[in-house]
Amino acid sequence: MLVLGIESTCDEAAAAVVEDGSKILSNIVYSQAQLHNQFKGVVPELACRKHLDVIIPVVEQALKKANCSLEDIDVIAAARGPGLIGALLIGLNTAKALAYAAKKPFIGINHLEGHLYGSMMPVMPKKFPCLGVILSGGHTALVHIEAIRKYRVLGTTVDDAIGEAFDKVASLLGLPYPGGPFIENLARDGDPYKFSFKAGNVKKNPLDFSFSGLKTNVMYTIKGQNQDKNAPSNLSDIEKKDIAASFQRAAFSDIVNKTLLATDHYPYHGLILGGGVCSSQALKKMFEEAFTTIPQFWPATGMASDNAAMIAGLGYHQFMQQGQHDSYFLKAQPKIPNLM
Ligand code: KG4
Ligand code: ZN
Repeated sequence: MLVLGIESTCDEAAAAVVEDGSKILSNIVYSQAQLHNQFKGVVPELACRKHLDVIIPVVEQALKKANCSLEDIDVIAAARGPGLIGALLIGLNTAKALAYAAKKPFIGINHLEGHLYGSMMPVMPKKFPCLGVILSGGHTALVHIEAIRKYRVLGTTVDDAIGEAFDKVASLLGLPYPGGPFIENLARDGDPYKFSFKAGNVKKNPLDFSFSGLKTNVMYTIKGQNQDKNAPSNLSDIEKKDIAASFQRAAFSDIVNKTLLATDHYPYHGLILGGGVCSSQALKKMFEEAFTTIPQFWPATGMASDNAAMIAGLGYHQFMQQGQHDSYFLKAQPKIPNLM
């Protein structure tokens, strides 16, 4: 079964063709990072306009690379949320229109579920339940995965998402957007214990996350307690490296510690890591040191950040399980209650 996947939840417009849920025939991503770099973050209105320009060419490229036409496709799947409403509408409505015109079933996919599925796509865990760890620009969550499509969210962020914290700290350090990879680079030569930064704990749920205090702490370290947060900083290169390394250590140890807490309470058969932040080699190293007995499923190269292969792959399972297509009235959902 061939599934065409379409993704446009944030600043990537992507299309992919996947066979039987796991064989990637094409995976085209048009990233707008350069466009938003000048604003140090995604400008929703610009993102939507750009998506409109590129979505059809991106779909055409995906079909061409997979050596097939729309007639050969069995199901059309698109991310229905969570994400930026205007951006979501473009991918979702493109999928609905193509499905209607070509008389193909249409399926709406939860983007976060897609991130988790993307990491299991090449090799499925032998046994469930597994623990999902979603680390992206918009979300941070620990998820009990009973089976594909059967989830329970154990903890989430009460303020900033982890990737968002990386992007804000990067901006304070004068680094480009998206800042995660630049922080990782800078941190390589820094002292991770130079500053005693710490992420927050949330009283009502020990598996929830809080990164806004950490981010503010880093801001005061950069700008000084009493300075205007927009004032330029005059840090030396080594100070910047130490701040990047100490911030990264604080953010990632928090993820590792809360994942350890979840695995202490439940005998999980695997850790499934998904989302753009999972392209960090520093994070992977910390997980490999902390979890030596649980199998870990990391996204393959190019599959951590937003892509449509994960949407098409999951679309296959969702269609098989549902046994029918979604309604054309399916709404784009900027926020999904309980995430899944
Ligand atoms: O999943 P994703 O592509 O988009 C969302 O759905 O949000 O994640 C993008 C996020 C950005 O915040 C980016 O800074 C972060 O992933 N990121 C990283 C690294 N590479 C990307 N964060 C930390 N270290 C990295 N190496
Ligand atoms: Zn994402």
